[in-house]
Amino acid sequence: MRALAVDTEAPGRLRLAEAPEPEVGAHQVLVAVQHIALNYGDLNGARNRPAGFVPGWDASGVVARAAASGEGPPAGARVVTTMGSQGGWAERRAVDVDELAVVPADIDLAEAATLPVAGVTALRALQRSGPLLGRRVLVTGASGGVGRFAVQLAALGGAHVIASVGSSARGEGLRTLGADEVVIGLESVTAPLHVVLDNVGGPQLVSIWRLLGEGGVIQCIGTTSQQEASFPSLVGMRRSIEAFTKGPRSGADIAYLMQLMQAGRLRVDVGWRGSWSRIAEAADALLGRRVAGKAVLDVD
Ligand SMILES: NC(=O)c1ccc[n+]([C@@H]2O[C@H](COP(=O)([O-])OP(=O)(O)OC[C@H]3O[C@@H](n4cnc5c(N)ncnc54)[C@H](OP(=O)(O)O)[C@@H]3O)[C@@H](O)[C@H]2O)c1
Repeated sequence: MRALAVDTEAPGRLRLAEAPEPEVGAHQVLVAVQHIALNYGDLNGARNRPAGFVPGWDASGVVARAAASGEGPPAGARVVTTMGSQGGWAERRAVDVDELAVVPADIDLAEAATLPVAGVTALRALQRSGPLLGRRVLVTGASGGVGRFAVQLAALGGAHVIASVGSSARGEGLRTLGADEVVIGLESVTAPLHVVLDNVGGPQLVSIWRLLGEGGVIQCIGTTSQQEASFPSLVGMRRSIEAFTKGPRSGADIAYLMQLMQAGRLRVDVGWRGSWSRIAEAADALLGRRVAGKAVLDVD
């Protein structure tokens, strides 16, 4: 079958190649993939992988073969899927039955593909941060995949949402998604912050720590700045930093996010879409911070 694999000579280090068919476990369905959603982590990880490695967590498509155990959806069901380990940017993938959700008829399959890593990360990071009603929530990297879901979900939870972006152009549309303030970096952000979903890391994270109020929490989701942070002192008032990880069994949370979409309460912004043969272009746009929201590839 065809897959997107690491090729150290290719622009962006990825190109279409031949790969072995997946081995399907008893508690897994075989899915014929139609749409792949890119995550920063897929692309960043591919930089350090050897030739032939197939990356990829998120994709949607149709069940080609139901699980031998009898669990999960039947053949023919439209599903959105993710994988515990990478290896899923291919025509077919084997998926654990608790890492997928059936896509309702009124939800676009390509949009659904964007939900597992980015949407579930935003949801779980907020759920781990306590009540949101009336709290001041900062989302950094708010223009990106995790960021746009986080802004919307924090607003749904009743928070005062501050969306931090790299430039005014990158902030476009975030107020419509529910941001009360859109700021560049930490410009004009005032204390106290109660919850922070940080996708950027580096020195900015230290500045955020100083803005955190009593009992506040920072969820360290990502380090897109690729810079390290050095904290002068962690002594003082009670506040915490969590090293966030999304964790497994995403199916039920993906289904919940699709319910929000059906109710018109959650929007998916697909900022780049094209054939999977254009992976180099899509990766360049995402890593170059030119995609507003998610990039989706069509397996054509
Ligand atoms: N821990 C977990 O379980 C988990 C799960 C999902 C994602 N992640 C991580 O979370 C981060 C966000 O993921 P994503 O998929 O949302 O990525 P994304 O769509 O690429 O968005 C990241 C955002 O970060 C900002 N950014 C990018 N490069 C930057 C730089 N050099 N300096 C400052 N800001 C920069 C950009 O905003 P501006 O252009 O507006 O600056 C961009 O919109 C990534 O690091 C990813 O690996 C972790």
